[in-house]
Amino acid sequence: MKQKILKIIKKKNKQKIVCLTAYSKSFSKILDKYCDVILVGDSMANVLYGMKNTHNISLDTMINHAISVKHGINKSLLVVDMPKNTYKNKIDALKNARKIMRLTKSDAVKIESNKKNFEIINKLVKSKIPVMGHIGYTPQFKKKFKPVGTNKLEEKNLIKDALNIEKAGAFSIVLECIVKNTAKKITNKLKIPTIGIGSSFCCDGQILVTDDMLGLSGFYPKFIKKYENMNKIIEKSIQKYRKEVINKKFPNNNNNY
Ligand code: KIV
Repeated sequence: MKQKILKIIKKKNKQKIVCLTAYSKSFSKILDKYCDVILVGDSMANVLYGMKNTHNISLDTMINHAISVKHGINKSLLVVDMPKNTYKNKIDALKNARKIMRLTKSDAVKIESNKKNFEIINKLVKSKIPVMGHIGYTPQFKKKFKPVGTNKLEEKNLIKDALNIEKAGAFSIVLECIVKNTAKKITNKLKIPTIGIGSSFCCDGQILVTDDMLGLSGFYPKFIKKYENMNKIIEKSIQKYRKEVINKKFPNNNNNY
């Protein structure tokens, strides 16, 4: 297994794993200083492209953004989401994952679970492609947002799914919007690290969509902490620019050639 991946696994029970999403070099070059993992998430479908869900973002779009993100990375682990319908069977999954790895020089791919596709993970891992799993609320397969693991049956199924994904060879697993007690049980049962989003501090690491935590996306459910109100900051600058252009304050003689 690659050193970079082993480093992430070894953090379990020692140090929390810090992860965020990036869609471009301008963000990844900042994130790289502070994150263990940078994910090119298919959340870009909603956040960047204004789509109503993540279902129609193309493989090529994901690859183009991942190429940009890679330019800003020196040390973090780069993981790229495989978009919906690009890993429906082993042949497609391998072909598309290889394309992602080859063109983006990323370290791993992420696959959302439909509770049956752990064999796809196994195929990729056997072909030397590191895979991050993703269970809980999985936007590619679920229509309506809802926290999961709220009853015994859901909990049992999530634990089974997580163990199957670990057995298939995934090096870590995202737990999305899984209630605290279930997230804790999954984290304790697995040898690989869990990365939580809306799944409590019990996970081995945390991930957020960077645009959400910066106050850029306008999407702020309970599990997101808004660390900054970037929309406000950007708006202020744009207002100032408009005023200065209209009042002929910008450009001034310092900006001339
Ligand atoms: O697409 C994404 O950004 C993700 C994270 C929210 C985990 O899958």
